[in-house]
Amino acid sequence: MKRSIIKSTGRYVPDKHVTNEASSELMQTSNEWIVQRTGIESRYWVREGDDVGTSDLAYEAAIIALERAGWNSEDLDLIVFATMTPDVNLPGSGVFLQNRLGAKKVPALDIRQQCTGFLHGLEICDVYIRSGKAQKILLVGAEFQSRYLEITTENRDTAVIFADGAGAVCIEAVETNNNVGIITSILHANGKYSGALRAGMPARKSGKAISPTVIKNQEHFPYMDGKTVFKLAVTLLPKVTGELLEKANMNIEDINMFIPHQANLRINEAFRERMNIPERKIYNNIQRYGNTTAATIPIALDELMEKNMLKPKDTVMFIGLGAGLTWGGVIYTLQ
Ligand code: UT7
Repeated sequence: MKRSIIKSTGRYVPDKHVTNEASSELMQTSNEWIVQRTGIESRYWVREGDDVGTSDLAYEAAIIALERAGWNSEDLDLIVFATMTPDVNLPGSGVFLQNRLGAKKVPALDIRQQCTGFLHGLEICDVYIRSGKAQKILLVGAEFQSRYLEITTENRDTAVIFADGAGAVCIEAVETNNNVGIITSILHANGKYSGALRAGMPARKSGKAISPTVIKNQEHFPYMDGKTVFKLAVTLLPKVTGELLEKANMNIEDINMFIPHQANLRINEAFRERMNIPERKIYNNIQRYGNTTAATIPIALDELMEKNMLKPKDTVMFIGLGAGLTWGGVIYTLQ
């Protein structure tokens, strides 16, 4: 039976380290407020004026993952690129990454899905691999959000949270009778909440894609109804965990490590308490990276691998919720 195995990981963040104190100089906020409400202590942003795009952040993570896998980029059957902050509006970032990697004959698939982009990416890769359509896939989650934010007091709720970074994994088809690799995945969406976290522009829905009114109304910057998203997260993440465990015929004790999306430390703490998960079994790094949207989970996985915090046969659960509303999770067992 074909199984999808994560052969290697890589991560990259830009070198501008932005502390809460530095954020406080840009808008009315404080280290105390940010730490208490979000858990974030610092984040990384691309330097102003640097000529880079999201695909360049992805490239740095991808070459680490490819080298660790011992793969040449031309060996790939597919590149899957998850981001909600592409280099340009058209085309998607996948082709920029493909070009920089020199992966001339490799198709590049872009996906959005915001905070659950990496989870959607894992499911897509698993379907490609199980069907025999692909043997070697590069999946990246990358975001360049600092230039997408309005760094003002009025928008301080999003301005202190979102950050830049990239995580990449090489996924390989392995023939085995063991229950390893991607065990199962569940994805959900509820467009009823699409207004809770959105950026209205550029759009085609009403009027011109970009107009002076749109810019005056700041519709090109993300808007977030944080309280609504927060409440949905603390309800739906435990629910989908139950669904995943049932589908995989597992108990919560069978999960060695929970690797949740990093949107807010309070969300992950509430989730942990509700599910009665011991602290050592959940990995958080939002304190150091902020919320890097599609990149949070692969960055966390790469750190866990680097710190040898996962061992063979361990089972992990990736889980997340974000704009859309979309939410879901993946159960994965190491070889
Ligand atoms: O990954 C994408 C999915 N997104 C999420 O999961 C986000 C979920 N939501 C959250 O993380 C939280 O709702 C936030 C961190 C965004 C906001 O925390 P909150 O506890 O819900 O605060 P709030 O929005 O209710 O704001 C409380 C107060 C307000 O002031 P008043 O009206 O009480 O005077 C805000 O203006 O805190 C103020 N505030 C800030 N103060 C200092 C909001 N942002 C800031 C800030 N610094 N950065």
